[in-house]
Amino acid sequence: MDKPMPNLAFQMMSAMFKLRDLLRPRGPILAEAGIEPGDRVLDFGCGPGAYVPAAAERVGATGVVYALDLHPLAIQKVEDLAGRKRLTNVRTIHSDCNTGLPDDSVDVVLLYDILHMLSDPHAVLGELHRVLKPDGVLSLNEPHMGEEDVVSRMSDSRLFTMARRGEHTYSFAPVSHPRHIEQPAPSADGVSLLGHLERNGA
Ligand SMILES: C[S@@+](CC[C@H](N)C(=O)[O-])C[C@H]1O[C@@H](n2cnc3c(N)ncnc32)[C@H](O)[C@@H]1O
Repeated sequence: MDKPMPNLAFQMMSAMFKLRDLLRPRGPILAEAGIEPGDRVLDFGCGPGAYVPAAAERVGATGVVYALDLHPLAIQKVEDLAGRKRLTNVRTIHSDCNTGLPDDSVDVVLLYDILHMLSDPHAVLGELHRVLKPDGVLSLNEPHMGEEDVVSRMSDSRLFTMARRGEHTYSFAPVSHPRHIEQPAPSADGVSLLGHLERNGA
């Protein structure tokens, strides 16, 4: 699938992000994600980790930030950052799609400045939908695409629906999936409640 950019390009991007974050601090963007203490946050395409320290502070000691990137330098930079700042609630994941996280285990996904780079957005969105809790939020920031393109790419997947438009981000909710719909419980004689309702014309 996606290939990491050359190391020099990654180093230049990291330097540019330092300037970007000085001129436009990331705080107001992250604030729109609604991260709560104790949350499990997945920063998909974390890059050099611009959002990691603030996300780690927001989730606190009982939460976790999973910082995922396909670039080995991103993983190294986030691990160095977490070590320097003593962030014990940060875990790195080196991947271009699969997270290895359990189904329905993540409260907030950060998809910041990466949607435009994905060669297979459907595969990535499928994985994000799988790991996101049914009441979780995918917070999206995409400076390289207009709103129409963002919304159509997300709704083409049929996995997410726009819940809120913030000043800097869009919040998407996962669309219900059959695995999230409870099956009718069988009654004592093995006849399902659904069958009971159907027989009674409900
Ligand atoms: C433009 S940077 C944004 C970094 C960070 N989210 C930010 O806004 O500061 C995009 C990052 O996504 C990573 N990336 C691109 N495609 C990816 C994929 N399929 N899976 C994981 N990471 C990916 C790149 O390596 C890069 O670090």
